[in-house]
Amino acid sequence: MTDSAYFDLEDFLFKERAEVEKALGRSLKYLDRYLPVGLAKPVRDAVMAGGKRLRPILCALVYRKCGGQIGPAAYDLGVSIELIHTYSLMHDDLPCIDDAQLRRGSLTTHKIYGEEIAVRAGLALIPAASLQAIRAIRELGCDEKISQNILIELNCAAGAGGMVGGQYLDLMAEDLVLDSDKLENVHCMKTGALLTASLVMGGLAAYASEDKITGLKKYGRAVGLAFQITDDILDETSSSKDLGKNPSDGLLDKVTYVSIYGVEESMRIARDLSDEAVGVLREAGIESPELNAIARYIVERKL
Ligand code: IPE
Ligand code: IPE
Ligand code: MG
Ligand code: MG
Ligand code: MG
Repeated sequence: MTDSAYFDLEDFLFKERAEVEKALGRSLKYLDRYLPVGLAKPVRDAVMAGGKRLRPILCALVYRKCGGQIGPAAYDLGVSIELIHTYSLMHDDLPCIDDAQLRRGSLTTHKIYGEEIAVRAGLALIPAASLQAIRAIRELGCDEKISQNILIELNCAAGAGGMVGGQYLDLMAEDLVLDSDKLENVHCMKTGALLTASLVMGGLAAYASEDKITGLKKYGRAVGLAFQITDDILDETSSSKDLGKNPSDGLLDKVTYVSIYGVEESMRIARDLSDEAVGVLREAGIESPELNAIARYIVERKL
């Protein structure tokens, strides 16, 4: 099967998600040993609350596509990114940021446990993610240089030059008028960085060539931007019931692709990015009906 049109992505994602859930369960066993009782439940609730699990799925998929062995360790590596993603959502929902009540169909952590717990539960996940990555790297048997590069990738994507910096700029932009170039940069940082790290970490762990890593970075930039544009479109066009989170960009007066270009044009831009992502993979010699189908899914999803 070489054409994404014949690839059953729904079935693939369903099976992959089950592997990710098992890996998350393994990770929580470690965390539980150290977490004070009052933090253990909010952390577990947030980590096990569902979600698409796209980042660990991408990490494990790229690992296999670049020659890595099938097995649980690549999911364990992907879980390190999911832990950062989970904390980023917990903090994104806080009253001082997006003030959201609903996440993945349930009340947000701060709504259930209060702000102080939500802040600390989120913080607990940051070092936990690095420790998770270290355990996975050992399981995978990566050499020292590759191990360092994987940890650098994770921490750079999570930090000031990636998600945290992007979230800061996103928040500051509520009082500014952003032009489209600046908005593209915010989206690439706050959302694209972690999605790209998922791909690159999978590639590094499988000792992919530099050309392949470069191709994965280009694919990640395109799908990362398309992912956040689609998130902005869904915020405008969908309901809390369908999304499992409250649409909030309008209320917060956010500058988004939708506010600059409107829904139709934003959809066109996202679709072009998805085509671009498929093109760069081909150029990098990465044959993957799964990654091609995921590039389409990212802009066609309803959730
Ligand atoms: C939501 O991410 C936050 C953004 C980066 C837009 P996801 O849409 O991947 O959220 P889950 O993990 O599926 O809930
Ligand atoms: C947040 O973007 C992206 C993160 C890094 C958490 P949004 O604020 O649009 O994400 P949602 O819509 O609340 O999931
Ligand atoms: Mg936000
Ligand atoms: Mg938000
Ligand atoms: Mg959003």
